[in-house]
Amino acid sequence: MAKKKITVVGAGNVGATTAQLLAYKKLGNVCLLDVLEGIPQGKVLDLMESAPLENFDCKLFGLNSYEETANSDIVILTAGLARKPGMSREDLRDKNAEIVKMCAEEVIKYSPDCFMIVVTNPVDTMTWVAKKYSCLPKNRILGMAGVLDSTRFRSFISMELGVSNEDVHATVLGLHGNDMVPMPRFSSVAGIPITELLPKEKIDEMIERTKKGGAEIVQLLKTGSAYYAPASSVVNMVASIVREKNRILPAAAFLDGEYGIKGIFMGVPLKLNWSGIEEIIELPLTEDERKQLMSSAEAVRKSVASLKV
Ligand code: LAC
Repeated sequence: MAKKKITVVGAGNVGATTAQLLAYKKLGNVCLLDVLEGIPQGKVLDLMESAPLENFDCKLFGLNSYEETANSDIVILTAGLARKPGMSREDLRDKNAEIVKMCAEEVIKYSPDCFMIVVTNPVDTMTWVAKKYSCLPKNRILGMAGVLDSTRFRSFISMELGVSNEDVHATVLGLHGNDMVPMPRFSSVAGIPITELLPKEKIDEMIERTKKGGAEIVQLLKTGSAYYAPASSVVNMVASIVREKNRILPAAAFLDGEYGIKGIFMGVPLKLNWSGIEEIIELPLTEDERKQLMSSAEAVRKSVASLKV
């Protein structure tokens, strides 16, 4: 089977780490694109020189122009500014919206049939911008955040209980920010909901840590935000698409009435395969869970309404 062509826009920490994981996991040929001359070329050359050791034969290309990304199967948008300590993801909105608009317009000129994954923050709003300027159908574009938020929640559960993270599942819905909605009832260890395994106070503590997971890392790094777990999250999604896995993953999808929400992107569980988003899964929610999800949706709606692009 011909190798898939995967373009990563933005050769910063998230973009470059994503390119590395795509190559090491042999998911396709990778184009790493950035406006800065030399950076994508240098990072790609460095990566290619690791090929004999890591035993991969995918091709990698460091690019400054979109022409050479033509006919990409999957495009991952990571370009944009990252947070500094004390900043919220919303503080990045206006500058990143300009960048995402430009990237989406360029990408779609050359890869009109691609599947797009947006990573740039604030991701729920930026995915809306990317859809507007790429005109991709709703089943061909999503935002990466749910997988990241749930892997953080999974890690905290596994550390707390001292169990292998292989047996831990976690569901996080809603926007990627303080109003995200971690769902303890749908988070489990070997099928047992964590509500049966941990006291409420402990679960609440882990929920808070998950909500502030990105900020905790920004605070430590001081000069940027997380990238190992974000890149792994993107690559997990790509693997589900390229390998036709039909995984059920949480991600920011365009809602068209699901959960009673319309016209915005927000984190929900969905089934992902080569055709794109095959189905959005609607979980049966309690009154309280529904309220939390609605306030998450309200925050996204407000952010989208404040856009200047
Ligand atoms: C984080 C960034 C990617 O949560 O939003 O680390």
